[in-house]
Amino acid sequence: MACATAANESFWLFGYGSLIWNPSVPHIDRVPARLHGFSRRFWQGSHDHRGLPHAPGRVVTLIKDAGKVCAGMAFRIPAEAAAEVLDHLDHREKNGYSRQSHGLHAASGLRLNAIVYIAEPGNFAWLGPAPAIEVAQQIAISTGPSGSNREYLERLAKALRDLDADDPHVFELEAIVKRTAIS
Ligand code: SIN
Repeated sequence: MACATAANESFWLFGYGSLIWNPSVPHIDRVPARLHGFSRRFWQGSHDHRGLPHAPGRVVTLIKDAGKVCAGMAFRIPAEAAAEVLDHLDHREKNGYSRQSHGLHAASGLRLNAIVYIAEPGNFAWLGPAPAIEVAQQIAISTGPSGSNREYLERLAKALRDLDADDPHVFELEAIVKRTAIS
C-alpha cells in the first residue's frame, strides 16, 4: 500500500533488516512486531551499502507470501523529527526501496499502522531468487561503504534470535556463510 504519512506527524516505522539493529533515527518507543502476509528474502542488490556498483551485495526485502509472517521491530518516530527522519530514510533506502504503509501486529497485541521500506520485484537493483549456496557466496565476498555483507547477515540473524523469531531463509544463509572461508 502506498504511503500517505504527513511529514509533521508522529508515525511508526517497521524495520525487518538493518533497521532492526541500526535504526539510525530518533525514536520514542520500540516494540517487537509482525507483518503478516510477507516473507523476508535476500533478493535485493546493494550497490551503496554492502556492495559496490560493479559488485553488488545482497540485502533483504519483503515479498508477498500469503499465510507467512515477518518478525521485526517497530519504532515510534516523534512528530518533531518526522520530516528529518523520512528524508534520512529515503536517502538510506534509495537503492530500490519505496515507502509503503502496512498494518502490524505488535507483541503486546496492539495493531499499528507503520511505514515499511520495501524493494519491489523489478526495481533497478533487484537481483531476485537464486540457489542458497549462490546467495551465500555473494554475501560472503561482498563489501561496501557500510561494511561487509557478511556482517549485515550476521547482525540480522542475531537480531532475529534476540526477538525469538524463526526465519529459515536467514538462518540457512548464515550457516552456509559461516562455513565459507574468504581470503
Ligand atoms: C529494513 O531494515 O527495514 C529495510 C531493509 C534494510 O535497510 O536492511
